[in-house]
Amino acid sequence: MRTIRIALLGAGTVGGGVLSLLRENAELLQVQTDCRFEVRHVVVRDPAKPRAVPVPPELITTDAENAVRDPEVDIVIEVMGGLEPPHSLIRHALQAGKSVITANKMVMAIAGDELIRLATTHRADLLYEASVAGSLPILTLLQGALAGNRIERAVGIVNSTTNFILTRMEQALAMGVAAEQAYSEALAQAQSLGYAEADPSSDVEGYDAQYKMAILARLAFLQYVPLESVYREGIAHLSGRDLVWARRLGYGIKLIGTAERLSDGRLNVRVHPTLLPLEHPLYGLRDANSGIWLQGNGFRELFLHGFAAGARPTASAILGDLILAARNLRMGIAGTTPQPSLQPGETAPIEAISFRYYVRTVGTSEEPLKAVREALAEWLPECQPVEQIPEGYEQVCLTALAPESLFQAHLAPLRQHPDIRQLQVIRFLS
Ligand SMILES: NC(=O)c1ccc[n+]([C@@H]2O[C@H](COP(=O)([O-])OP(=O)(O)OC[C@H]3O[C@@H](n4cnc5c(N)ncnc54)[C@H](OP(=O)(O)O)[C@@H]3O)[C@@H](O)[C@H]2O)c1
Repeated sequence: MRTIRIALLGAGTVGGGVLSLLRENAELLQVQTDCRFEVRHVVVRDPAKPRAVPVPPELITTDAENAVRDPEVDIVIEVMGGLEPPHSLIRHALQAGKSVITANKMVMAIAGDELIRLATTHRADLLYEASVAGSLPILTLLQGALAGNRIERAVGIVNSTTNFILTRMEQALAMGVAAEQAYSEALAQAQSLGYAEADPSSDVEGYDAQYKMAILARLAFLQYVPLESVYREGIAHLSGRDLVWARRLGYGIKLIGTAERLSDGRLNVRVHPTLLPLEHPLYGLRDANSGIWLQGNGFRELFLHGFAAGARPTASAILGDLILAARNLRMGIAGTTPQPSLQPGETAPIEAISFRYYVRTVGTSEEPLKAVREALAEWLPECQPVEQIPEGYEQVCLTALAPESLFQAHLAPLRQHPDIRQLQVIRFLS
């Protein structure tokens, strides 16, 4: 029986999950692959750090390059995070003909095209199921069971941290917590439970979801998707008032990623807070759940959802990739796992789309609210009665479908209006 030797780069949340599942499921992995697995190196930054999952001290090292270059190592599992050194380490592993499994969405979104080419050249597997929506097998499906379809649309909640924060904000608001406290309290809860980092900007500013949507769109639409073409807006600027108003009007707000082919053939990929009806399946995803809703010309619709992130769910996706890579090594066909043959194609900016909008304005008097209504007049705003709140006068309007470029141009002068304190615009699910 072949022994597959692994270099594990990182022993934090995900690395710990990989180590425990490798131990717990050792027998199962053997049955699945007819291989034995042996971890040769566990690379960390601080060897003295106490670890939730114990690591035999003789395996621990800080020398990642050496672990990757060890000729005995067959497969490198990268779960460090960040662009460098993981990008260079993955490159070196592939150049040495080793198969690589990574959960690193930043690397795969920024440098994925280069690394995929490198893997093909060096006949090594590069597998990254865990990089998008953790345990949900979306990339495997797109490259396998659904590969015979023309994908029309992918819409989802791909960042579980923001979903947790928005769910907890709604719950707190329903229990009477003040709107201005709801976000900071929910973020603090997410941090204390380990869902959000001390610096939460990657999640709450939408970068994490932007990386994931770039990777997902590339495989769904078989097209180069430069990261900068993916529109990004996070949830940090949302107010508890927006969640309260959305609920009153029969909607919820989620951070939604969308990738879709427009009627002119261009691809649009975007991430932004989105109003969706309370009965929409994506709204039903609570706490740290994720979900992706796909439409294709054969299967029509498919909805994948679950508690996808964290140590064990992410490790589950990594083990799936490990089994595939090990089977390929055993059969001598490493590097033959299908990699997308990407076509050049145009991407469209968000300005090419039309949306319905929610517009909440807070002014020092009723006068500037009238100016907003006039600016939106073309799109028949249905406005709620003006309410007096501690910050001033508040008005919420919902519009008919409007082209993003024109709509934003109409609102732009109002953003400088001296008597407008807040002008919040949230798109509806299109
Ligand atoms: N957490 C999740 O739920 C989740 C889900 C899907 C994908 N991912 C992805 O999985 C990856 C790992 O995430 P994580 O949550 O496990 O991160 P983490 O808990 O911060 O763990 C990172 C590990 O990598 C080590 N490390 C980081 N930089 C290093 C360096 N320069 N040299 C040597 N070791 C280094 C750290 O060492 P020390 O322990 O000594 O600090 C730590 O063991 C990221 O790409 C993340 O985006 C995470």
